[in-house]
Amino acid sequence: MAGKVLQAVRGMNDIFPEESAGWQALEGDLRTLLALYDYGEVRLPLLESTELFARAIGDVTDIVQKEMYTFADRNGDSLTLRPEGTAGCVRAAIQTQSMRGQTPRYYYMGPMFRHERPQKGRYRQFHQLGVEVFGLPAASTDAEVIALSARILRTAGVTAALQINSLGSPAARAHYRTLLLDYLRPRRAELCADCQERMERNPLRVLDCKVPTCQDIAHLAPHLADHLDADSAAHFALLQSLLTALDIPYQVNHSLVRGLDYYNRTVFEWVTDALGAQGTVLAGGRYDGLVAQLGGAETAAIGFAVGLERLLALQALQGRVAEAPAPLLFMGALEEAAVARAWQIAERLRDEGISVVTSGPASFKTLMKQAVRSRARFQAIIGAGQLAGAALILKEQLGEGRWQGDLDAVHEGLRSLGVDFPQPAPHTVRNFATARTLS
Ligand code: HAM
Repeated sequence: MAGKVLQAVRGMNDIFPEESAGWQALEGDLRTLLALYDYGEVRLPLLESTELFARAIGDVTDIVQKEMYTFADRNGDSLTLRPEGTAGCVRAAIQTQSMRGQTPRYYYMGPMFRHERPQKGRYRQFHQLGVEVFGLPAASTDAEVIALSARILRTAGVTAALQINSLGSPAARAHYRTLLLDYLRPRRAELCADCQERMERNPLRVLDCKVPTCQDIAHLAPHLADHLDADSAAHFALLQSLLTALDIPYQVNHSLVRGLDYYNRTVFEWVTDALGAQGTVLAGGRYDGLVAQLGGAETAAIGFAVGLERLLALQALQGRVAEAPAPLLFMGALEEAAVARAWQIAERLRDEGISVVTSGPASFKTLMKQAVRSRARFQAIIGAGQLAGAALILKEQLGEGRWQGDLDAVHEGLRSLGVDFPQPAPHTVRNFATARTLS
């Protein structure tokens, strides 16, 4: 009896070559532009101790209370699939002492896991590019980090609007919290059930509730920006003048508070209405207290993350879809006896950086069909005839190009048809001097 066909876990997607070409193109563009700002890649574990996220993101956040994939491993330790990258990055930087006397700029790209209700633009396994900068407390760093975020969206060809806010210092926020509660309490009955609960745990989250009645109430609430401590107010004012100087349009959104507890001062989001309910493409902010809170030395920090699925969806809406690259040559073998020779030639071409897809042994008709399906620019078929000295024919599949000649002269044939031979395939590891081991 045939077994039941197994399904992927809900909200977790498979990505095949037709799509991964777009992912690779985007990831390549992102890596190139991160180098322009001197960011280095960190590759961090997908699993961390549950305690890390509870302490970093905050016990009373939706992520920690409702969305984490948490389980006990075989030793009984509670582990969690990372719902975001900041906590792990801070943990790693403290553990390896890589912030000591340094101001590192890190980035990471990879999957994150949140048990949210899947819908367009929202998945249970999704991918982020995140950046984190340590040791730079000034507003000029906020401006540069936001300029990087603007460039990421520009490079991806995505249009979104920048919203910023300041959450001030923890003390200013605590004071504002009592003001906000004074304002919300008489209106409690008009709030949605979630917000009534949020009022007790984290009243600032009422400000960014998406339910219209809650938004109306939030709209008239006192503004956190009017109750900032003097240093945070000056920081926010300087950031705004720097954004203007850098020609980055922004809007101050007084309701922007973010769903993770580690932020202070600057928070920002790039939003669009092209993706329905999931309008935030890129989001982040300053979190100057987190490093110390997790056991490191007092260290200023700022970062953001961008959802790659959301970036790709926005690109697709604009008709920007990368095509999977096609091989340069389809090489078919008609008989078993021709396979060794055909494979040898293919290997020699690959030594020169030429991409070749092989097939066979198979009938001429089958090979022809496969050649077309391969989308290769050229095709060549090798059989007993060629082994006995007959000419090999190289044919352009969609054009008129044609060459015939000796089996050993395929390189010259391709060159005569206008193929540039790329650099030989790389087989050396470069940059040894900068390699470092995490222990
Ligand atoms: P976040 O706002 O939770 O921030 O997520 C950042 C971005 O990840 C979102 O704007 C969205 O594009 C994407 N994203 C989040 N959840 C999902 C989902 N379920 N499906 C698809 N995409 C999603 C953070 O994660 C912070 N760690 C950002 C940060 C870095 N702050 C400072 N440094």
